[in-house]
Amino acid sequence: MLSCKEQKALSRMQKAARGRLSRVLVFCLLPTAYCLLFSGCRRDMQDQPKAIAYRENSFYKDGTGSRPLVEGTVPRGYLRADRELYLGKKSTSGNQQGPMLTQPAGGQPTAPQVQLPTSPVNAASANPYPDDVETFPFAITRDDMKRGQERFNIYCAVCHGMTGYGDGIVARRGFNQPSPANYHQDRLRQAPIGHFYDVMTNGWGAMPSYASQVSVEDRWRIAAYIRALQLSQMKPETNPNARVGGIK
Ligand code: HEC
Repeated sequence: MLSCKEQKALSRMQKAARGRLSRVLVFCLLPTAYCLLFSGCRRDMQDQPKAIAYRENSFYKDGTGSRPLVEGTVPRGYLRADRELYLGKKSTSGNQQGPMLTQPAGGQPTAPQVQLPTSPVNAASANPYPDDVETFPFAITRDDMKRGQERFNIYCAVCHGMTGYGDGIVARRGFNQPSPANYHQDRLRQAPIGHFYDVMTNGWGAMPSYASQVSVEDRWRIAAYIRALQLSQMKPETNPNARVGGIK
């Protein structure tokens, strides 16, 4: 048995021990609480300090976040120095600007009223598309022709019909004012191959451009396939292969 004095001393010691323990706890917990507090002050992802294109920005003198392009800058893959391949235009022709740049504001060029040659003598000489190339910029192989057929059937046949008479399902269901062109008309039989490339690239009257869906090479392959369609519908005696073909 402890005496009364001893009991008092023991309870004093227990109190002191409890006090020390709570001090230790406070010292350990406080820094943890601080850490949690400061990690709450993080920067949210939507507030990243970065320059957004063309957004106002006080960092540069001219007040915009975008830097002006160095003169003559060409985006990667857009040099397109080969006019014949990319524009379907003769490299010697006067118009040095690409069709995209000469496009009038507010849409595609309207389909010009082309004067059909009146006599067969004129037919060969009067070319309404003097700037357009007459030959393909690369040799067309059998595989190119097959790919052209496949692409034509995907992108063009819906309006122009599988055989190119302008009687595709979309035309029959109402897209017919003007109706999609019939490829088997004299003007298009005699048109240089570059004209077909041009129509696909820039659109023609009511027809939209297919440049975003059909790659440059595929546009030439489709043009080759259209030539084949035209030849397939010509009587042998009216088939001036050398003039119309242009296939290397
Ligand atoms: C949505 C329907 C539609 C599709 C798809 C379409 N065309 Fe046309 N196309 C037209 C119409 C309509 C015209 C006539 C435009 C006019 O005269 O205003 C036309 C005209 C043409 C012409 C004649 C241009 C001239 O000199 O008169 C060619 C060539 C042509 N398209 C090729 C193509 C090729 C190649 C494709 C596939 C890449 C294609 N089209 C896809 C509707 C279409």
